[in-house]
Amino acid sequence: MKNHLLAALMACASAAFVANTAHAADIKVGLLLPKSGPYAALGKEIEDGFNMALEEGGKSEDFKLVTEDSEAKPQVGVAKARKLVLQDEVDAMVGIVSSAVLGAVRDFVDGSKVPLVVANAGNDEATGKNCSRYITRVSFSNAQINRPMGEWMARIGVKKVYTLAPDYAAGHQMIDAFAESFKAAGGEIVGSEYTPFGKTQDFGPYLTKAKAASPDAIYVFYAGKEAITFVKQYDSFGLKKDIPLYGSGFLTSPLYVAAEGPAAIGVTTALHYVPTINTPENKAFVAAFKAKFDRAPSEFAVQGYDAGRVLVEAVKAGATDRASITEQLSKVSYSGPRGPLTIDPATNNVIQNIYVYETVADGDGLTQKMIGTIGLVRDPANGCTLK
Ligand code: BEZ
Repeated sequence: MKNHLLAALMACASAAFVANTAHAADIKVGLLLPKSGPYAALGKEIEDGFNMALEEGGKSEDFKLVTEDSEAKPQVGVAKARKLVLQDEVDAMVGIVSSAVLGAVRDFVDGSKVPLVVANAGNDEATGKNCSRYITRVSFSNAQINRPMGEWMARIGVKKVYTLAPDYAAGHQMIDAFAESFKAAGGEIVGSEYTPFGKTQDFGPYLTKAKAASPDAIYVFYAGKEAITFVKQYDSFGLKKDIPLYGSGFLTSPLYVAAEGPAAIGVTTALHYVPTINTPENKAFVAAFKAKFDRAPSEFAVQGYDAGRVLVEAVKAGATDRASITEQLSKVSYSGPRGPLTIDPATNNVIQNIYVYETVADGDGLTQKMIGTIGLVRDPANGCTLK
């Protein structure tokens, strides 16, 4: 019974996607993801989503995968990207979780003309002033998620905000985008701090300083292990009952919100995907993912899934090598689990909805209660001259 149900769900989720994959050729793909460090779980989730898309496309044997651990460290990422391109001679690369790694590999990718499908790292410059026709992003840009939250929080009446984030490219870009739109909408940033990335175990001193600034709310970006530690300490140090916590939705990702437990209840954040999106495409995807992995998919799973799906679509359209994959990737457009997904030809960044959600109790567990949708968010070109 369970197998029949799964087969039906998969068929429904991907009927159009499976059709016409007969032209798939041997494509060698280098997966560059963290398998260690603070973002290791994110890398595994992206890989699971990616493999699911290839299987669903019905041609996973036509894609040869070579996997490398970036450790979420820029120098390691560059060394591994060079190995994938020069030694393994991959036709395309997929992955990269950290904005710092993406910034570090950008020139090598551009120079070697190997298409890279970014399945997480939000570095604004990679689809802005340092864009490349070889870099296509199916995840998000850091500004794309945080800019709408600045406007939204000002609109609901939040006036004074204190911000916190890890001290690396993503932390700065996410907070800059939030602060800019929040201030433009009339809000005030009453203080800001950047914490050492991957090293901060005790957020106590930062939280004490934040509280002393008397904000209406605190807005943060943290992801992976740091998000779990931060959300738990925010609650246990007693701030949650007095100062509401907001952020980009990686803070309370379905991937690890269970590890945060009740401390995550009431936290309001924004993302481009949550498993509670109420569409037939998403319901089918969630059911198929749960049947395969016994857990709800997170934004990282969907990013991996869409990275696999755009590659399958490119091959379906006749791509066989680096140049033709590059050409096909910028033409991708479909409606999937997250809603509409279009690659913007002006920047190669994804155009997509952003969802504001609150983490709420659901029986013994936690779920994502949708409280707003900002439709079809598209980044400005920001100095990108692709078109
Ligand atoms: C980034 O470095 O771009 C990033 C890492 C984890 C989650 C979201 C963004």
